Amino acid sequence: MSSAAFDSMWSALEQVGRVGSGGYRRFAWTPEDRTLREWFAAECARRGLDLTVDRVGNQWAWWWDGPGTVDDAVAAGRPGVAIGSHLDSVPDGGAFDGPLGVVSALATVDRLREAGVRPDVPLAVVNFVDEEGARFGIACAGSRVLTGQLTPERALALRDVDGTTYAEALRAAGRDPAELGPDDETLRRVGTFVELHVEQGRALVDLGAPVAVASDIWPHGRWRFDFSGEANHAGTTRLEDRRDAMLGYADLVLGARHVATQRGCVATVGKVAVTPGAVNAVPSHVTGWLDARGPQEDHVRALVDELTGRAGETGAQVVRESWTPTTRFDAALGDRLRQVLARAGGAAEPLSVPVLGTGAGHDAGILATAGVPSAMLFVRNPTGVSHSPAEHAERADCHAGVEALVACVRDLTSLRAAPAADGADA
Ligand code: GLV
Ligand code: MN
Ligand code: MN
Repeated sequence: MSSAAFDSMWSALEQVGRVGSGGYRRFAWTPEDRTLREWFAAECARRGLDLTVDRVGNQWAWWWDGPGTVDDAVAAGRPGVAIGSHLDSVPDGGAFDGPLGVVSALATVDRLREAGVRPDVPLAVVNFVDEEGARFGIACAGSRVLTGQLTPERALALRDVDGTTYAEALRAAGRDPAELGPDDETLRRVGTFVELHVEQGRALVDLGAPVAVASDIWPHGRWRFDFSGEANHAGTTRLEDRRDAMLGYADLVLGARHVATQRGCVATVGKVAVTPGAVNAVPSHVTGWLDARGPQEDHVRALVDELTGRAGETGAQVVRESWTPTTRFDAALGDRLRQVLARAGGAAEPLSVPVLGTGAGHDAGILATAGVPSAMLFVRNPTGVSHSPAEHAERADCHAGVEALVACVRDLTSLRAAPAADGADA
């Protein structure tokens, strides 16, 4: 039964990369990541799915029992449908951001099989690598390189906090860095992508609905600010003689809050590195990473310009590490899925399915930008907390999410599906 399958997969993942805070540290190309990738491969093998790994390391597990190969089906006008998400986490992240989408996708395959459904087009379950960018700084690195939105040269040169490059990390994980690059062969197979994800706000609690369809992702980016000073003794250096790199950083943090409030954006400085990092030494160097987002692109840009200008006055260097413009999900696809969900479960009256925008980035947004019709389903989060050990979704809502994904996939993989026309639950 699908609920039992979901529950047992969830239990199997619960201990992987868990730390003392109760959250997870599952970073790209680490031993924890390897365990998760092996777990994913084993779950796919158990289901007889055909696992392929693209040039970036994203894992795609195909179900296609039709004539010929997946590529034959695509060439014959049956582009595939992919569902899934990611298994990596932010530092001390929650259990749901990412894994909920992967586990729900695998449970969806089980549910379809229980129901005797055989997709008319190839269906893939995908595990995207390095969605959070927790180790190397660029979020959605797996889907960005896949789609050509991040060059392999730039990706390979990224360094983690220990100075390990992406290339070295790939090598240590048994991959050839020369392989890394866009992968059109993989992308060509994907006609539609649907990512189910835990909600990262608390709109659905107020709306009284377990599942929503996404409309868009706010523009967002990351900037690195480097402040320089001079190391000196914390006890003997007179205040007027100090060149304290921390002061510029402090101005950035307070300025980010102030300007974000004025411009209707959100801004966060959630990561900082201090050199030499001693309680009793004046900091000689401080690096702070700014994450800025908002509903309006020009406001986010203005916010960053203002903060960059202020920091520039202290001689700071500012580098943009990533920028993702507003992403609008395919409206026709979103409407179609809403219609499917409105009728799913056999309710006498169609249900009202909320549509939500989000300030969080996702691989589905990167694929949408690359021209792959993409959609997202959000599963209610009772507190809205995310990127924290407290992130949560009730089990009943997780199961409802699986049922929603099943209904969507049945529709999208059926060549007979025409939701507006016949209303049949294929
Ligand atoms: C990813 O979760 C992001 O929005 O940073
Ligand atoms: Mn996340
Ligand atoms: Mn995520």
